[in-house]
Amino acid sequence: MQSGSEIIIIGGGVIGLATAIELRLLGAEVTILCKEVNAAAGRAAAGMLAPQAERIPAGAMLDLCLKSRSLYPEWIRKIEAISGVDAGYWQCGILAPYYNASAPGEDWLDARSIQQHQSGLSESVVGGYWYPADGQVDNRALMRSLTIASQTLGIQFQDGVEVTTIHRQNGRVTHLTTNCGEMSAQHYILATGAWSQQLQSIPTVPRKGQMLSVSVPPAPTADLPLQQVLFGEEIYIVPRRDGKIIIGATTEDVGFEACNTLKGVKQLIINAIRLFPPLQACALHETWWGFRPATPDEMPILGTSADANLTLATGHYRNGILLTPITARLIADLVWHQRADNLLAAFSWQRFEPV
Ligand code: FAD
Ligand code: GLY
Repeated sequence: MQSGSEIIIIGGGVIGLATAIELRLLGAEVTILCKEVNAAAGRAAAGMLAPQAERIPAGAMLDLCLKSRSLYPEWIRKIEAISGVDAGYWQCGILAPYYNASAPGEDWLDARSIQQHQSGLSESVVGGYWYPADGQVDNRALMRSLTIASQTLGIQFQDGVEVTTIHRQNGRVTHLTTNCGEMSAQHYILATGAWSQQLQSIPTVPRKGQMLSVSVPPAPTADLPLQQVLFGEEIYIVPRRDGKIIIGATTEDVGFEACNTLKGVKQLIINAIRLFPPLQACALHETWWGFRPATPDEMPILGTSADANLTLATGHYRNGILLTPITARLIADLVWHQRADNLLAAFSWQRFEPV
């Protein structure tokens, strides 16, 4: 494409915003249409950068995640330099404690070593793994930083605009119908997360996650604050530098059910206090929920679509914050330079087509 080419990105979560910024920096005129920015999973997430703690098996997905984690420091510096807004990137490491370990692998910390590593853990913890290269970003701060960066660069962000139909003719998208009228561009990118199947025939479904946060009491009340993420069984505990601690998350197949349930919140509180009893002294700060964009193989859908001028960037499920830098780079390269990196091959929508 050439400088000044017009691109519409549908969806203004982390993936839409970051991709818009890469394309703008290459010279594109970019507009983002977003139904509801506050509904984005990017706001609801924990912000863990956790390819190892998430135990992603070896293969294309792990390669993509590790590559993205390695891009984070430089990418964050770039976004923060444009926006002037700190995104809370922190390579704090992630500790993964276990209550049972039938055959622990290499680098296993036994019960004594893990308690030395992090005081205050449950006495039922039998050991765990330490992943020093995993970390976190404050995903809400990241959303702010990306939003300001996109404004600074002159990207048009239209919140409250819902695309209702993508119109096609002869293998190309011709225009979009939205709640604010019809719109068209030379190229389109679908970055609508858990809602993608409403616009495109691809298998993305919502997986609800309930979350809560607590405020750390003033020292020396408890063995807090934590200085690393705890990634336990059915629970994770993410200390932020501002004194809040994020606790998550449920994984529920309940469509777009928009609420915290008592059952969900109870599960989080019980599991969190079991793993790290000093949390009992913390004040409950906030509860919320969000919708992970899940696919059948839990890998994203990236790259070209059946329409020559529509590119797909969705389905990031549990790792969309982690995968933001690499997705933005690969998709911008594909759209702008028509360069399909080898990393994209495993993520085509066609893997779900009947053979
Ligand atoms: P979203 O952030 O959901 O944004 C999509 C946007 O598209 C929304 O704003 C929506 O309003 C808009 N949209 C939808 N349909 C339309 C339409 N028709 N027209 C216009 N706009 C539309 N990932 C990690 O890497 N680490 C974590 O620790 C982590 N924790 C998580 C915890 C929870 C509870 C949840 C829910 C997710 C978590 N994730 C995590 C996953 C991560 O948040 C997502 O993978 C990522 O945010 C997906 O980004 P996205 O931009 O594709 O979608
Ligand atoms: N990656 C954490 C979650 O999706 O809950």
